[in-house]
Amino acid sequence: ARATVGIVGGGPAGLLLARLLHQAGVDCVVLESRDRAYVEQRQRAGILEQGTVDALRSSGAGERLDREGLAHDGIELRWDRRAQRVDFPSLTGGHRVWVYAQTEVVKDLVALQLRDGAPLLFDARVSSVTGAGTDRPVIHYAHGGADHTVVCDYVVGCDGFHGVTRKAVPEGELRTVGRSYPYSWLGILADVAPSNEELVYAHSPRGFALLSMRSPAVSRLYLQVPNGTDPAAWTDERIWDELDARFAVDADWTLARGPITQKSVLPMRSSVTEPMRWGRVLLAGDAAHIVPPAGAKGLNLAASDAIVLARAFGQLARTGSTAGLDAYSDTCLRRVWRAEHFSWFMTTTLHTAPDQPAFDTRLQYSQLDRIAASPHAAAELARNYVGMPVG
Ligand code: FAD
Ligand code: DHB
Repeated sequence: ARATVGIVGGGPAGLLLARLLHQAGVDCVVLESRDRAYVEQRQRAGILEQGTVDALRSSGAGERLDREGLAHDGIELRWDRRAQRVDFPSLTGGHRVWVYAQTEVVKDLVALQLRDGAPLLFDARVSSVTGAGTDRPVIHYAHGGADHTVVCDYVVGCDGFHGVTRKAVPEGELRTVGRSYPYSWLGILADVAPSNEELVYAHSPRGFALLSMRSPAVSRLYLQVPNGTDPAAWTDERIWDELDARFAVDADWTLARGPITQKSVLPMRSSVTEPMRWGRVLLAGDAAHIVPPAGAKGLNLAASDAIVLARAFGQLARTGSTAGLDAYSDTCLRRVWRAEHFSWFMTTTLHTAPDQPAFDTRLQYSQLDRIAASPHAAAELARNYVGMPVG
């Protein structure tokens, strides 16, 4: 088979890219190793930036988002039994974010793609990409019990952190830098109305906690746990008791409890692979960079890579110019590194490391006090949270 653009991976990056390419008249194919149900139910991110929402709307996937998505104008920070709201519109010139789960974004994009888009194959596992340095890179994959190939003009690796596309680039041409963190998150879904209208990010000597939501009837909560934690070791009661203790403030506030329907543990890491292009192979989303989740940036970075890439392929198709593709890596990496810094900042400001010295805790309090006292400090957080302009 032939395709102008071969896309490895049908997560948010691959699906949005395919949709935007379809609209730009560029033919492509998406190969996804998992089945449709798995991809649509994988519980992950929940916060969309303006740029992500704009792209979903213009791709035709904005209808349910506009109906069911919850616009949020701020977040609450808690530390040392205090609470402070950070207001986004007043600090950022009118920007806000939306609560709309990654599962729903993926369902909307899959439905559109299967209706009138480019081919999207599930259960299609890519084993390798060859010919990155030629003008005809090839994707090798297995589907329906047989081996197949697609010969492409360009291959885009949207295959996540454990993907295979990165390996198409010769040893030594890409550099990966990153770090891990000495804690993980235990994430739960609960059938109970969120106890706060906005997200609550809580610093506590017992460890970080985050209150988020999926709908007016479903809460999504996270709590910091040691690396290697088995979710089964946490009973529902222990989870709620621990969350209660971590969100505690002097003001009158109670955390509503409900049936927990899902529990999972996620490790935390930061990683960037540079450059994001070599020859005719390009990397997008988690395949190129990972952030710890506290800044809510992972999905939004995947979307902005797809937007920049779709523009570049559109330009190539219309004018024959590769200027956009040539600038792709530099354009994205500026935004990626800003998000890497912000995610690291949110993570290290709000978590309590094992055996954390009292001095470090006092530094965290000072930083949080500063955000509460200074509109400049608060605006820096707000601007990063709502997202930097795409491009
Ligand atoms: P992915 O969503 O990982 O998609 C990659 C796709 O490629 C997958 O569907 C995979 O099956 C497919 N694939 C992989 N290898 C192959 C192959 N060889 N052949 C074919 N297909 C392949 N971000 C937040 O902002 N907030 C959160 O709370 C949050 N929670 C997260 C929890 C977890 C457990 C994880 C892993 C991530 C979380 N993230 C979160 C990050 C966010 O979900 C990702 O940044 C986002 O999914 C990136 O999209 P992507 O399309 O680049 O990659
Ligand atoms: C969610 C996850 C995050 O990492 C975050 O910072 C905010 C919200 C969520 O899953 O709802």
